[in-house]
Order: sequence, then structure tokens, then C-alpha cells
Amino acid sequence: MTNEQYIEAIEKRHSRRAFKPKHLADDVKDVIKQMVDVVNESAGLDFVFVDDATPFFKIFSGKFSMIIVAGPDSQKAREDCGYYGESIVLQCVYHGLGTCWVSGTYNENKVYESFDFPSEKRVYAVIAIGYARDRYSIVEKSMYSATHKKSKSYQDMIEVCDEKLPEAYSYALKLVEKGPSAVNRRPVKFRYENGIFSAYVDEPYSDKSIDFGIAKLHFVIGTRAKGINGKWSLENVFEVSEPQRLKFEPKENNDEQ
Ligand SMILES: Cc1cc2nc3c(=O)[nH]c(=O)nc-3n(C[C@H](O)[C@H](O)[C@H](O)COP(=O)(O)O)c2cc1C
Repeated sequence: MTNEQYIEAIEKRHSRRAFKPKHLADDVKDVIKQMVDVVNESAGLDFVFVDDATPFFKIFSGKFSMIIVAGPDSQKAREDCGYYGESIVLQCVYHGLGTCWVSGTYNENKVYESFDFPSEKRVYAVIAIGYARDRYSIVEKSMYSATHKKSKSYQDMIEVCDEKLPEAYSYALKLVEKGPSAVNRRPVKFRYENGIFSAYVDEPYSDKSIDFGIAKLHFVIGTRAKGINGKWSLENVFEVSEPQRLKFEPKENNDEQ
């Protein structure tokens, strides 16, 4: 998918909790399974695709599948789960599917009972995926109004800013604002000091780090749209790669007297 297509998906994504009464087509499931395999292989995570997710849910309706978002027990794995899980979400949304990140309103014990996760692995959340109903259900509307009474703007997420933010960064933060987060809390704090852009969450060993990973992906997509090629370091500083330039450095000619 191109960066523009990711942005289109960010613009149109909303959490969906009411699905049509038909399961995903087999070829769609195959593509999602391939995405799961790619994530597990490239990021060292333990995502699992589950064909029929309905037995693990009470308040979601219709038929839907899910991805179990799991990985090692570390802060980095939590952030990576958010980052890579959201990349799958956006690809699904772009192709017309409804999705919802879920860390609370599903039966987590049943997931641990039904799937054999080694004891050192953790399940952080699941992502429900299905054909969303054309109209929002009453449950969806009431969950939306419960979580969106007061939404933080991106300006509220900036803790320190000692000079005007580059336009590319404020654009990218607007895409962060559109990202999903548990109970819409938007817990990431951004800092721009001495030309260094960084971010953190208060409790990195909680599911706030899942929200953080999601926010980091949205930020990268936003800056890329503005021609900036950057990535988040392990310390969560946003590092911009310098464009490669061919340098013409004539050797000193010592023969010349
Ligand atoms: C890590 C995470 C956990 C979430 N857990 C739940 C959940 O347990 N139940 C639910 O209905 N929605 C859940 N959500 C969805 C959020 O409520 C939703 O993203 C937020 O309210 C913003 O709304 P939007 O996704 O429509 O933009 C979760 C989202 C994230 C990122």
C-alpha cells in the first residue's frame, strides 16, 4: 500500500463493533493471515489469526474474525504490537473492512485457555475484523458518545515545545489525533526541545504502550507524506535520515608545486 493509501485509511477509520452476519471471505482471511506472518517474522511478535472470534465477545454483534495481538513481555514488544497491529488495521480499513482494537471488552481468559501461549508471552489486545454493518448500531453509538465526550487535540498532547513546530510535524500530529486509543485517552506526550522531537507514555509497562505504538505509526505516515524520511529510535526520539548526497571531494593534488 502507498503512503497516500495509508492516509486515506487513517481518515476513514473508526472503531466498528457491529458486523454483518457473514464471515470474511476465504481469500480475505488468507491475505490477513499473510500480513500476520509478515509481522511475526519481521518484528518478532506472536500475532494469531482467529477465524471465528464471536465466542470471545459479548457486546459485539454479527460475525467477525480477530487477530490476537501477542508478543514478548517488554516495553518494546508492547509498542511494536501497537505499531504493527495498526498497520494491519489500516490495510483492512483501506480495503473496506471494519476493525476495532479491544483490550477490555472480550474474554481474555478464554483466549489464554484456547491458545497455547508459552508462559513468557503476553496477550496485549485483540483486533476484531469483519464486514461492518452499513449503519452504526445503538451499542456503537453509545460507546462512541461515552468515549468521545472530551477528545484531546494534538496540541494537548504536546508537553514541551520550545520553538515553532515544523509544519510536517504538526500535520503528522493531526494524523496521530485520528488514531485509536483505549477509551480514547490519547496518552502519548510529545516534546520538541532543542530541535529534538521525542515522545513517551507515563506507564510504559501498561497497554498505554499499545496506544503509543499506534501513535508512532501515524506520525511516521504523516511525516513521510511531507517528504521526511524518519524513524523512532529505541529511546523514542524521532530521527530524520539525511538525504543521501554524492559528495565530490577532489583529492589534494600534492604533485602540484
Ligand atoms: C489498545 C486499545 C484498546 C481498546 N479497547 C477497547 C475495548 O476493550 N472495547 C471497545 O469497544 N473499544 C476499545 N478500543 C477502541 C477505542 O475505544 C477507540 O479507538 C477510541 O474510542 C477512539 O475511537 P475511534 O477508534 O472510533 O477513533 C480500544 C482501542 C485501543 C487502541
